[in-house]
Formats: sequence, C-alpha cells, structure tokens
Amino acid sequence: MKTHSTTFFVNNKEYTLDIPVHRTLLQVLRDDLSMTDVKYGCGAGECGACTVLVDGDRPILSCLTLAVLMNGRKITTVAGLEKEGELHPVQEAFVEEGAIQCGYCTPGMVLKSVSILEKNPSPTEKDIRRGLEGNICRCTGYEKIVKAVQRASIALAASSPVKQKEGGKV
Ligand code: FES
Ligand code: FES
Repeated sequence: MKTHSTTFFVNNKEYTLDIPVHRTLLQVLRDDLSMTDVKYGCGAGECGACTVLVDGDRPILSCLTLAVLMNGRKITTVAGLEKEGELHPVQEAFVEEGAIQCGYCTPGMVLKSVSILEKNPSPTEKDIRRGLEGNICRCTGYEKIVKAVQRASIALAASSPVKQKEGGKV
C-alpha cells in the first residue's frame, strides 16, 4: 500500500504520520488520532458533520479530503476552539441559545459559524442561513442555531479591542 509521510498540526499539536494515499482526513482524525469530536455523518460531502477548519478559518469537509493533502497545514477541530478552559464565544452562544439537541451536527455547525463570523462579523440572518447551507441538522429546525450565531456576533463585537476602545474601556 502506497503511503506518504505527512506532517500537519491539529489544534496546535504537530503530527507526522505515514498515511496511505487513499485515506481521508476524517478517517485519520477519528480512527488514527481518536479525535471523535470530528463527526462522521454521510461520508459523501452532503451533511457538513465532518467540517474542520484549515489554516485558521477555511472550512473543509474532512470526509472528502485526502489526508496527505494536509501536509504543512494547520487544522482546527471543535475541541481546539477553547482557550485556557474558556469556550469560544460561538460555543458559548450555542449553549446559551440551546442550539443543540442530539449534538451530532454541532461540531460542524460551530466551526462553520466561526468561519462565517471571521469573514463577516455582522452577518444578516440571510447571510447566516446561506453560510450554513451545507450543514444539516435533523433536530433543531435551525432557528436556535441562527440565533446562536447572531448572539456570538454581538459577543465578539463587544469583546473586540476596537469596540472596547470606542467605548472608552481601553
Ligand atoms: S460526513 Fe462529510 S459531509 Fe457528511
Ligand atoms: S442537534 Fe441533532 S442533528 Fe443537529
């Protein structure tokens, strides 16, 4: 079986693995590295459950991505969003809004929401719904997820240095 030595970072930790060239990033993360916060939904690019972020804010479907193509890349899974024990504002907002039921779609939804807000800190409801189009939730009906992204947008704006300066807090 042909393999490639591949080095990448996951949640700021470096890994070098000999990876069979046909193996997907989802298989490597879940089965080889036991990162079960990355979810296997459809395995065919249709549900978004397997979403991870590459090089900061670019969402990709790990079920459709060959792991060897990640050489030199920085991958973030939902477990990598917290900082010093504090949830990311998007994670916090999902909890506050009750935007989680079974939770299976949640890691992908949260990561996709982070990428939406990185690109557009003040998205409209339409922007949010469009941004989340590739992520399927079977439980929540999406309303609470959209509200969570709106809440996170407000929280992030309030905590940004520019806003704090404008409000005289810095
Ligand atoms: S598991 Fe990757 S899109 Fe469904
Ligand atoms: S919370 Fe169950 S699939 Fe979204």
